[in-house]
Amino acid sequence: HLVCPMNTSPFVDPNKPSQEIWEEFSMSFTPAVRDVVDFAKGIPGFCDLPEHDQVSLLKAGTFEVLMVRFASLFNVVERTVTFLSGKRYSLDMLRSLGAGELLNSMCEFSEKLAVLGLNSDEMSFFTAVVLVSADRSGIQDLDSVEALQDKLIRGLRNLVMQNHGEESATTFTKLLLKLPELRSLNNMHSEELLSFKVHP
Ligand code: HEM
Repeated sequence: HLVCPMNTSPFVDPNKPSQEIWEEFSMSFTPAVRDVVDFAKGIPGFCDLPEHDQVSLLKAGTFEVLMVRFASLFNVVERTVTFLSGKRYSLDMLRSLGAGELLNSMCEFSEKLAVLGLNSDEMSFFTAVVLVSADRSGIQDLDSVEALQDKLIRGLRNLVMQNHGEESATTFTKLLLKLPELRSLNNMHSEELLSFKVHP
């Protein structure tokens, strides 16, 4: 099985060679990854960073950006996950196919993000903040990445302050607290990915 919603379905033909399984899976998730790259290029100031740093942030942050973007695939009320093909599977089914704690944590993350009720502009700003806040190891021009992060956080804050009335300050704080949660989901997910690569 390949229990990742970026696939078209969790079921894998047991007779298929693992290279083919990866090729089909790649075809399914590549457009989403490409959209993240295009989105990054559209963040004012991102393309002014050294190319090496653009690549580092994208490598470290793409999963986190996709997690935010595709949070709505997780439906906590109906206890289902929609895969990129549009097919829906129940959490119980995915669990029986081998999904574990990470699936629960992602559902919980998605539910809490949805409760904040961000509009699409806020969502874009938040996603931009997520990307430039990605792991900094190996970044060459830290000052520029930090300056860009500050600018985006201020932009996000201004938007949230305009739109969320009395809840503004808490909504903004909760959004910033999502950054370490995303990091932790990213780390857990990388482990799943690695162990899948080792024993597909
Ligand atoms: C699990 C790959 C992005 C959600 C996995 C697994 C692989 C994988 C190989 C292990 C499958 C298994 O052991 O059956 C990838 C790749 C991604 C990606 C290459 C890059 C685009 C995402 C995103 C999400 C996600 C953006 C969420 C929106 C999950 C979930 C699991 C999973 C829920 C199962 C976790 C569990 O076992 O509890 N992924 N994934 N993945 N992935 Fe992804």
